[in-house]
Amino acid sequence: MLVVPGSRQHALVTAERVAKCGEGKVSLPRWRVFPDGERYVKLEEDVRGQRVLIVQSAEPPQAEALTEILLLLDAVSRADRVALLLPYLPYARQDREFLPGEAVSIRALLKAFSSLGAETLIVAEAHSERALSYFPGNVIHLKPLRFMAKRGEWRDVAVISPDAGGVDRAKQVAEVLGAPLWCVEKRRDRYTGEIEVGVPPGSLEGRAALVVDDVLSTGGTVAKVARALKERGARRVEVMVVHHLGLEGSVDRVLEVADRIVASNTLPPKDPRVQYVDITEVLCEGVLQWARGDLNPRPPGYQPGAPPS
Ligand code: R5P
Repeated sequence: MLVVPGSRQHALVTAERVAKCGEGKVSLPRWRVFPDGERYVKLEEDVRGQRVLIVQSAEPPQAEALTEILLLLDAVSRADRVALLLPYLPYARQDREFLPGEAVSIRALLKAFSSLGAETLIVAEAHSERALSYFPGNVIHLKPLRFMAKRGEWRDVAVISPDAGGVDRAKQVAEVLGAPLWCVEKRRDRYTGEIEVGVPPGSLEGRAALVVDDVLSTGGTVAKVARALKERGARRVEVMVVHHLGLEGSVDRVLEVADRIVASNTLPPKDPRVQYVDITEVLCEGVLQWARGDLNPRPPGYQPGAPPS
């Protein structure tokens, strides 16, 4: 297996880690940025007859990371088999047309990756199964939250999902911890992006709460939920997210009201106040699954964009 990373430091670090577990070899391509900002890539190895794993880290600015993926996919087009490991799948939150005339952004990206030859997509905790349904090839959807829950100390917590769409992922944590699971009602104004959160059911008087979400971007969602939980009597509020995008001010916003943030290292660790859990082991499971050819073909009658059965 030849592991080919994007130019970002975290893509290289991730590529080296997964290459070790899959007995692969990292092959660094040569990158250049032209004076006008356009990118260029040249492979340094012949990929004919090889299995190639492209690895990219999609922290902001995402557009640059995505351009590199397109160029790499084109460059490896003579390989025998091609998979793309994107621990954080960007644009997945726009997984439907919420307002008439909107692009379904993730559909556009996944169609482009597939049409350029990516046969398998390996991602960790994508925003929704619907988002992944737009990829016509094989999808390996890794779920690091169980792994993360086992590596922390959480005593007597209630696990909280910030919205109905996140219940399945919060449930994974609740099961590991043997904790009750509650869902807060979140509403987003689709024109302004503003969110409102309702109060969780039941009393949290004197309890600790663990808010579980897929991504921490501005921190606005978990900060609002944490505030509502404290107003409801929660003694402590902790936050567990898979992807920390590292936006300026996001950690301050959350820690103003919450007591701890735990995230994984799908993206580059940015803030010493966040506890980052190394999920290389989970990424390796996905890479090894692909290397064994143990794939999940689409079921008969599969419809892109249809809710999973
Ligand atoms: C939304 O549906 C997602 O699951 C996250 O809750 C949201 O995108 C987090 O964004 P922010 O940190 O900006 O509130």
